[in-house]
Amino acid sequence: MTIRAVVRGVGHYLPERVVPNAELEALVETSDEWIKTRSGIERRHYAAEGQTTSDLGIRAAKAALADAGLEPDDIDAIIVATSTADLTFPSAATMIQGGLGMTRGFAFDVQAVCAGFVFALTNANALILTGQAQRVMVIGAETFSRLMDWTDRGTCVLFGDGAGALILEAATGTGSTDDRGILATDLNSDGRYKNLLYVDGGTSTGTTGHLRMEGKEVFRHAVEKLAETAHKALDKVGLSGGDVDWIVPHQANIRIIEGTAKRMQVPMDRVVVTVQDHGNTSAASIPLALSVGRARGQIKQGDLIVTEAIGGGLAWGSVVLRW
Ligand code: UT7
Repeated sequence: MTIRAVVRGVGHYLPERVVPNAELEALVETSDEWIKTRSGIERRHYAAEGQTTSDLGIRAAKAALADAGLEPDDIDAIIVATSTADLTFPSAATMIQGGLGMTRGFAFDVQAVCAGFVFALTNANALILTGQAQRVMVIGAETFSRLMDWTDRGTCVLFGDGAGALILEAATGTGSTDDRGILATDLNSDGRYKNLLYVDGGTSTGTTGHLRMEGKEVFRHAVEKLAETAHKALDKVGLSGGDVDWIVPHQANIRIIEGTAKRMQVPMDRVVVTVQDHGNTSAASIPLALSVGRARGQIKQGDLIVTEAIGGGLAWGSVVLRW
């Protein structure tokens, strides 16, 4: 008998305000054409004034609970992947727990920037496999608009806000790759690259800071490391690109998504793409894409999915799961 962490529900929330590329032309020397061709982004959502990361997370969590047919107290643990918690502490996870009216279990944040959701999923899987939790809600929630330097055209056009949530629950499997649930994970980081993507604020400065990125360098690492981690995770369970129904990648740049799919020998019609509508929502991008992909009718029960992400750290990883 094998315990598997199986998807029970999914949901997402996007703030109301949609900002098309044209609106950013008024802020910095840029164009819709440049943003679209270099990144694939056409629009993104920005949180309203006063709307926080935990607000977005609560909305996504409620959508996932409704999808699963569960109440907040049916959940044993909440893990939130975020780099934009409302406050330095308490965690966004406990704020979401409180906001849901959940009076039991435990909640904590995972900080691995854009790779955060993959790290959080891996932690949730471990909690379920070790019997510490039966049901774990994994949320990616971000308000990266709050970290933008609105004079830096190389970054401010790329990011957006949003949240997605996935509920995993313990189920019995056979131990084969036909089982539903998480089948393999692969996590990596390399702090030698800390200066390629970071926020120049925190306790050392007493400010929130702004996002700084060496875009070209991150791009180069991304295509190489994302394909490598996806292959490593698939290899662990004897699967390959040919077995994959959907790649659900971190949505940073359509050219990175295409480059990774090509290296994995997976055609683009088996890749869930939302970057055009959401921009880069950091740790929220994968659960958003899972939820949107399911709503579009792309992702169906039994499909083999590979998620992969890379971000500041650098930190990167992948999860193979059967929906
Ligand atoms: O989620 C975490 C991981 N993050 C990523 O994966 C992001 C990775 N990087 C990227 O997606 C791409 O590198 C970018 C989209 C950020 C940039 O694309 P690029 O093709 O690497 O462009 P570049 O940085 O080499 O810039 C090319 C030119 C430069 O002008 P010069 O020096 O050639 O005259 C930039 O100044 O484009 C210029 N540029 C812009 N032009 C118009 C940079 N940003 C803009 C802009 N509008 N917004």
